Amino acid sequence: MMSTSSKENTEEIFEDIKRNLTRGVKDRKHNFHTPVFSNVNGDGGIDSRVVVLRNFDPLKMILNFHTDFRSPKAIDLKQNNNSLFVFYDHKLKIQLRIKTTSILNNQNQTAKEMWDKTRLLSRKCYLTTKDPSSFTELPEDGIPEHLVSKEPNLEESEKGFKNFTVVENKINEIDWLYLEISGHRRLKLIFRKQKPEYQWIIP
Ligand SMILES: Cc1cc2nc3c(=O)[nH]c(=O)nc-3n(C[C@H](O)[C@H](O)[C@H](O)COP(=O)(O)O)c2cc1C
Repeated sequence: MMSTSSKENTEEIFEDIKRNLTRGVKDRKHNFHTPVFSNVNGDGGIDSRVVVLRNFDPLKMILNFHTDFRSPKAIDLKQNNNSLFVFYDHKLKIQLRIKTTSILNNQNQTAKEMWDKTRLLSRKCYLTTKDPSSFTELPEDGIPEHLVSKEPNLEESEKGFKNFTVVENKINEIDWLYLEISGHRRLKLIFRKQKPEYQWIIP
């Protein structure tokens, strides 16, 4: 049977996914800008949190976000690099569940290239004296007192580089779900070779 609708043509769905992930990086208002990222923690449990999508490479099929090397997720990803993103856009009516393998880039060329593009204000969160997610007596953000409500200068901001981490996540599988009252559609895209393998699924 020839498929005519763009939601029934596997190649078009793949192109549409890539287009929306690319938009999600650039457009801060796009719902794909802030996916939920999950990984396995040291106790064998699951941790999930919202991250900002910083890059999508449609050729290598890699999704990037930035984090602090001291954070629990970074520590846990070194032990177990299986990870998962969930994206949802209610206007597009599309959910993406993307299985990935994560690589941490800390104090290397990839981290340096991205760090050089960050604004001084964005660098501030890598300057906390206490480790991210560590316990504290008082409600605070861990930023040194002299930087509260201030932008660090360039020299001071550079202290954050050792904590700045680019997490690259190689896409292994995408579970695409299109919720439409006239007929839901679900497709699995498996990335074993250059081109994805497609498998329709009952939603
Ligand atoms: C809109 C939004 C964007 C966020 N972006 C990031 C991000 O890009 N990287 C990050 O490490 N944490 C980000 N966070 C914070 C995480 O959701 C999480 O609270 C924090 O990283 C601690 O997670 P962990 O204890 O599992 O390491 C963001 C939170 C929100 C609400």
